[in-house]
Amino acid sequence: MTILVTGGAGFIGSNFVLDWIASEGERVVNLDKLTYAGNPANLASLAGDKRHQLERGDILDSALLDRLFAAHRPRAVVHFAAESHVDRSIHGPAPFIDTNVVGTLRLLEAARAYWQALEGEEKEGFRFLHVSTDEVYGTLREDDPAFRETTPYAPNSPYAASKASSDHLVRSYHHTYGLPTLTTNCSNNYGPRQFPEKLIPLAISNALEGKPLPVYGDGRQVRDWLYVNDHCEAIRVVLGRGRVGETYNIGGNAERRNLEVVHGICDTLQGEVPREGGYRDLIRFVTDRPGHDRRYAMNIDKIRAELGWSPRESFGTGLARTVRWYLDNREWVANVKSGEYRRWIETNYGTRERA
Ligand code: NAD
Ligand code: DAU
Repeated sequence: MTILVTGGAGFIGSNFVLDWIASEGERVVNLDKLTYAGNPANLASLAGDKRHQLERGDILDSALLDRLFAAHRPRAVVHFAAESHVDRSIHGPAPFIDTNVVGTLRLLEAARAYWQALEGEEKEGFRFLHVSTDEVYGTLREDDPAFRETTPYAPNSPYAASKASSDHLVRSYHHTYGLPTLTTNCSNNYGPRQFPEKLIPLAISNALEGKPLPVYGDGRQVRDWLYVNDHCEAIRVVLGRGRVGETYNIGGNAERRNLEVVHGICDTLQGEVPREGGYRDLIRFVTDRPGHDRRYAMNIDKIRAELGWSPRESFGTGLARTVRWYLDNREWVANVKSGEYRRWIETNYGTRERA
């Protein structure tokens, strides 16, 4: 048996592939374009393992998709591949439409053609799991109830709009063609192997280099932090037992203000690698993100009640593990901070004034 994973060399995808092979032992064909965010080193521990096959390629390439379906006959697709960084979508939305919208459409088309030709148990058991985000629901005020699966979509960034569009396409393929889809909408992930453009790995790696820790606006925006291994487990549970055609919210039960998160990183690091005067004096408030969503929070009653899943990690334990991983893997960080990475830092932060 085989599953087809897209984007499995990125942050969540690589954690998922490692977790899947360790817990299920089932073969994974991993289709990844290896953009700046895709890193085969994330999967180094699987070198020589026949249960993992990395295919470098683009989900926009329909001929390649058809070939992969025909050659490997996967029993399921787990679709992570995306452009994932909100700030990059603000600087240049087009690749987000290409990969997240058109790429998802091409993948759905290839999956539909393959699935329609299946018969019996193979057809019955096939699943297409689409990994999406809480950002499709828009933004919350401080005292609003958390997002539910029934919350109307109101995406605010080009990234969120592209993910919302892909969710609608997935929904329509179930409704119109009967493709057995599942959609998961999750909150902010953190943990090992996250590209240091996102808040937590950026703050850890900058702090270790004695560089500024940029906090957008007033730093009081709230995110619901989900440890990546909890997310991987939730996806396994939804893939195994989720009801076809449904969507499931996944969250970490860990709402924190950005400034609290950065303080937590500074204090955890101070316990591990003490710095004279501590790390907090590296914090710099900088110009806010345009259209910055104020708060995300996930109501996870549905997945808990139907599938018995809830997160295992608290924010404290998850952050300690994450900091430890970055301390133990400084070479990984140095390697991903390539030429392209330095260009991005100039594009995003070069124009941000100190607030
Ligand atoms: P990431 O940016 O770390 O990785 C994305 C991966 O997709 C990379 O390996 C990249 O090479 C690959 N990819 C990009 N375009 C591709 C294409 N056209 N064809 C094939 N592969 C391509 O992203 P991530 O943080 O791991 O997120 C994975 C998924 O989870 C995304 O769909 C994202 O929207 C969703 N998500 C992420 C978070 C989060 O906090 N990181 C939260 C909610 C949802
Ligand atoms: O909510 C789920 C989403 O979480 C995913 O769908 C996205 O793929 C993922 O990138 C993430 O989006 P965010 O925009 O919330 O993550 P990011 O790490 O970029 O930012 C987290 C918060 O920290 C956000 O409020 C912006 C702020 N921030 C970010 C950076 C990079 C800063 O204050 N300073 C920074 O330098």
